[in-house]
Amino acid sequence: MTKNRSSANKGVFCAAVCANRQIRQRFYRLRLEFSGAGAEAFSNFKPGQFAELDLCDTALPPAKTIPEDLSNAAGRKILLRRPFSFTDVTMQGDKTLVDILYCVVGPATLRMTTLAAGNSVSIIGPLGNGFWVPGGKKRAVLVAGGMGAGPLEYLAKILTADYPGIEAIALAGAKMAKELPFEGRLDEISQQLGFSLPVFAKYGIQSVVATDDGSAGHHGLVTDCLSEWLGGPDLASESMIIYSCGPEVMLARVAEIAKEKKIDCQVSMERRMACGFGVCQSCAVECRVSDSSETIYKLCCEDGPVFDGMEVVF
Ligand SMILES: Cc1cc2nc3c(=O)[nH]c(=O)nc-3n(C[C@H](O)[C@H](O)[C@H](O)COP(=O)(O)OP(=O)(O)OC[C@H]3O[C@@H](n4cnc5c(N)ncnc54)[C@H](O)[C@@H]3O)c2cc1C
Ligand code: FES
Repeated sequence: MTKNRSSANKGVFCAAVCANRQIRQRFYRLRLEFSGAGAEAFSNFKPGQFAELDLCDTALPPAKTIPEDLSNAAGRKILLRRPFSFTDVTMQGDKTLVDILYCVVGPATLRMTTLAAGNSVSIIGPLGNGFWVPGGKKRAVLVAGGMGAGPLEYLAKILTADYPGIEAIALAGAKMAKELPFEGRLDEISQQLGFSLPVFAKYGIQSVVATDDGSAGHHGLVTDCLSEWLGGPDLASESMIIYSCGPEVMLARVAEIAKEKKIDCQVSMERRMACGFGVCQSCAVECRVSDSSETIYKLCCEDGPVFDGMEVVF
């Protein structure tokens, strides 16, 4: 995977819904199928890229099933498309299947829960740059906070398939067990590095789970696990890379740790996005200019969402 700006083959495509499965209280996995030009455009989708879904005509779930904290926001009209990354991309004959891991946080994601096999969704993409792999890397540490695990799961797949010389591990954190977007009994997960999370274990990648309240895995911040792991012996910093996706406060700490240890680091940033392809200028990210004290604003949708951790002004 090389460093690029937003994809040249983006377009507006129609995807068929194959399945929409609830995996935990607020987390779902949506599987979509593209055929024709959409299948081709999304077949080269890179981990960290995203797509804009049109959910304005999607139905709301029955009122009695709407979580209380979303009851006021639920009826809000949806004018703008919403950005989502993909958790998996697979080719099946001349079709491309993609998975989206999503969390119900507001009116659009609430509507998304009613999508079912037989429905279709209008999607703009592929958008954004995605993660890239610089030459000479032998170890990759994937650091996920909450929903940030989605694009890193797909990155784990691509690293395993296309970069056999890179050994990867994954660190996944959240405030509490119920905010971890994984299936299974998370409260039983050990505090040690191991094949604890099936979404990474299926690619032969070991993982550590951390929760702020200790309800699953390590009791503390996932960034503390990162510091501890990087403190281990025999880790040549120039052959390592950290990939991170999650809340901005966590990305800031990951970038700080990477800087202290002189390790390359890429962070996937989030901004509210009105268009998703460089027109509305609503998604600015302040970035340092190299060898200068000046900063400039880059666009999260076109120049990102993945940035070099050293360049972002958090
Ligand atoms: C590049 C990118 C990739 C994304 N990938 C995923 C994904 O794979 N899965 C997933 O569940 N979500 C993802 N998101 C976030 C997702 O777009 C929002 O959760 C969604 O738009 C919320 O829509 P809503 O109408 O349900 O809630 P809204 O009412 O729009 O938002 C609910 C709450 O979330 C906050 N919020 C919403 N969007 C953002 C944002 N972009 N940055 C910071 N705060 C925000 C709002 O301020 C509000 O407090 C991604 C966002 C970006 C920018
Ligand atoms: S979302 Fe419109 S310019 Fe980035």
